[in-house]
Amino acid sequence: RELTGEVEFENVDFGYNPDKIVLHDINMYAKPGQKIAFVGSTGAGKTTITNLINRFYDIQDGKIRYDNINIGKIRKPDLRRSLGIVLQDTHLFTGTVMDNIRYGKLDATDEECIKAAKLANAHDFIKRLPDGYNTVLTGDGSNLSQGQRQLLAIARAAVADPPALILDEATSSIDTRTEAMVSRGMDALMEGRTSFVIAHRLSTVKDADCIMVMEQGRIIERGTHDQLIDMKGRYYQLYTG
Ligand code: GTP
Ligand code: MG
Repeated sequence: RELTGEVEFENVDFGYNPDKIVLHDINMYAKPGQKIAFVGSTGAGKTTITNLINRFYDIQDGKIRYDNINIGKIRKPDLRRSLGIVLQDTHLFTGTVMDNIRYGKLDATDEECIKAAKLANAHDFIKRLPDGYNTVLTGDGSNLSQGQRQLLAIARAAVADPPALILDEATSSIDTRTEAMVSRGMDALMEGRTSFVIAHRLSTVKDADCIMVMEQGRIIERGTHDQLIDMKGRYYQLYTG
């Protein structure tokens, strides 16, 4: 059955090591198509939550549901694979640009890969590479800029066409023009999918349906940008500095 991208956490406790709990009593609900953002200081648990959405680990207590299916304690690789991840460090392998995009869906046609690259805003730079889509990348992607690697990661996720996405926004310095391209590609990719975004830029957070403010493994505030500003709490502090 197709997943809609509905994700729910109910009273989730988690520790990488069972006797050191790092997430406490996490409750959240994402309707299909919503954008959920996580903000908070380093070590607050943002990446850990996204690791759990991906079911990389078993949880100690509580429930994680996709479309009402509890996947909190049983590993369901099929479900897990249906989520798309765009991480900061994109894993590229030695092979053509086309094959690196196709990795998102192994039976995708060339046309589907090109369509995905266009949606991701990656098509233009790929066309300018020496051999276009047939350009061979080095395994570490070192013959591409960081922004270009991110555009490829977006294209790879787009070809997989998942109902839900996890985006770990890069903090590292890419130039403003490339950043704008990456940001437009991300927006196109998120359209119509549930998105969980670890956001480092205010611009990314502002239009989220719900912003989760995390501290020491707990969600301490949640709401839209305007609601959180009105609350004059932690979020207000973070962004008015
Ligand atoms: P930044 O990425 O630095 O902004 O932090 P974050 O909010 O993503 O925090 P993260 O979820 O990575 O960490 C939450 C807590 O879990 C911290 O106390 C980490 O030290 C701990 N932690 C994170 N990853 C691991 C891991 O792989 N193993 C163990 N044992 N602890 C981890
Ligand atoms: Mg992190």
